[in-house]
Formats: sequence, C-alpha cells, structure tokens
Amino acid sequence: MTEKMHDFIAKMPKAELHLHIEGSFEPELMFAIAQRNKVQTKFDSVEAVKEAYNFNNLQDFLDIYYEGAQVLLEEEDFFDLTWAYMQRIHAQNVIHTEIFFDPQTHTDRGVAFAKVIDGISNALHKAKHELGISSRLIMCFLRHLEESEAEKTLEMALPFKDKIYGVGLDSSELGHPPSKFKNVFAKAIEEGFVTVAHAGEEGPAKYIWEALDLLHISRLDHGNRSLDDPKLMERLAAEKMALTVCPLSNLKLCVVDDLKDHPLRKLMQNELKVTVNSDDPSYFGGYMNENFWAITDALDLSKDELYTLSRNAFEASFVSDKRKKEMIELLDNYFA
Ligand code: ADE
Ligand code: ZN
Repeated sequence: MTEKMHDFIAKMPKAELHLHIEGSFEPELMFAIAQRNKVQTKFDSVEAVKEAYNFNNLQDFLDIYYEGAQVLLEEEDFFDLTWAYMQRIHAQNVIHTEIFFDPQTHTDRGVAFAKVIDGISNALHKAKHELGISSRLIMCFLRHLEESEAEKTLEMALPFKDKIYGVGLDSSELGHPPSKFKNVFAKAIEEGFVTVAHAGEEGPAKYIWEALDLLHISRLDHGNRSLDDPKLMERLAAEKMALTVCPLSNLKLCVVDDLKDHPLRKLMQNELKVTVNSDDPSYFGGYMNENFWAITDALDLSKDELYTLSRNAFEASFVSDKRKKEMIELLDNYFA
C-alpha cells in the first residue's frame, strides 16, 4: 500500500463494534497488574506471554485469553485495562466503540460484578469527557457454560442495567449453538437489552439462522460462514443486518489461511452490511488501523469500499440518531 493510503486509513474516523475488553490486555499491563495483585500466572515474563500467542484455532486462543484475565481482581484493574484501550483507539481516530465484557470470567473467580462494571464504566466516562469517544457496553455470556449460569449472570447485571446496553454470546462456538441460550436471551430482551451473538466464526451457517430466529439479534458478530448459504445471505441483506468482521482475528485463529482469501469483499458484493473490527487486538496483532491496513492490502480495497465499511459501522452502532448523524458528517467531511 502507498504511504498515502496508509495515512488515509490511520486518520479516517472509525467506529469499532466488536472488541472484547479482556482481549485488549497488553502483556506489559498484564504483567504489571499480576505483580500488583501478587497473582502467579503460568507466564514468568512479558516475552513468555508473547510467545504463547500462536494459535491453531479459537479454543487455543481462548485457553490463553482466560489465563491472562485471571490477574484482574480489583476495580482499578478493570479501569486500567479499559483506559489503556481507550487511549490506544483515540490515537487511531476511533470515535465510537462498543465493548464486550465477559462477567463470568471474573465472577466465577469470586470478583464482584460491581468491581468489573464500575472499573470499566469509569474509564468509559473519562474517555467520553477527555477524549470525546462515545461508547456502549455489551455483556457476553460464555457459551461453553450452561444456560442456567447465563441466567444467574443476567440477574446479577440487572442492578447495573443503566450501564449495559446489550447482551451477546461468545467463547467456544462449536457444540454450543445459539439455541442453547434462547431462554436467557428472551429474558434479556424483556428487560430491554438489545442482543447480538458470535455466530459463523467456526460454526456453521445453521448457527447464524438460530441467532436470528431464536436470539433475535440486532447485529451478527463475525458471520463469515454466511457465504455458505445463499438464502441466509438474502435474509441478512434484506434485514440490513450488520456483520462485525474481524480480519486479523480470522487470520490468527485460522478461520482463513490467507487474508487474500478473506470473504469480506464477497460479503460486501452480496449487499451485506460489513464492518471491520479488531476482536482481541492484543492477541491478534493489532487494533483498528492494523485491521484496516491488513485487509486493504490483501484485497486492494478502494477508497469507496473504505468509505462504505466505515459508514456501515456508524450506521450499525447502538447510539442515538443524533450521534450517528454527527459521526457520519465527520466521515463525509473527511472524504470530501
Ligand atoms: N472471546 C473473545 N474473542 C472471541 C472470539 N473471537 N470468538 C469467540 N469468543 C471470543
Ligand atoms: Zn469476538
């Protein structure tokens, strides 16, 4: 890519819609917090942590990701984690972000739900005031655990309803279809949450149908496997369903062997509302700019395509029409 294009992407106003806050945990911060909390992990140096970041599939990654999250104990830890992410994306011209967090990863270790949510929320509040970044929080249920566990988590979250906009579904996809969670998602909708779900990352197109029909999702996380099913693609296009695609994640988790074979453009050509996101940036080799650079390079994306991708994210964000309009205006001015 030319230096000019590289720079153009870096300065382009962007929104991120698929980011796991625990996946933004940089090894240096992980190590500092482990020492502060006197928590022993299986890594004895920052280099050892980095060396472990070699994955063959989603489960390989998740094992390491849950290991790293063990060092998070206090409200301050969740604040520091979130604030570090917000500063990084500020430097990349991300003006809006929608953040997943996995409460069960923490509450199952005895960390109070309040510490998790307050730490994250305080950092988001600071970022809104000091950096001008708007945000939403989405609580994910871990799909390798039982639905009854997700139901307990939803109960725990109700006192903090004002801080959580939606619920999602993540962790090990194969063998844990969306149908397993249809009751808890119905309850979440009754409580006023919007719903999203990871589907079609490693799992089949059938899981995407289930996410649509049983979990009533407003956005589809990943959704790469939609391409296997023409009827599904028609449905997604007709509903203007946004897909939160994560190029570097797909590469690192071997969902694609080469970014040149990434389905992003094919999905766009089928009129799907595709967005670009980082997923777990500290584990997969980059934040928003690195994802945009990599996929632009691999597929030789045009400026028109970049505009569409960025605009899709603003349109698909869970914010007021006023904020959407404001962000799209910034994008339009940038391209003008
Ligand atoms: N948790 C964090 N990142 C994830 C991903 N890419 N898929 C499923 N669960 C996750
Ligand atoms: Zn994800």
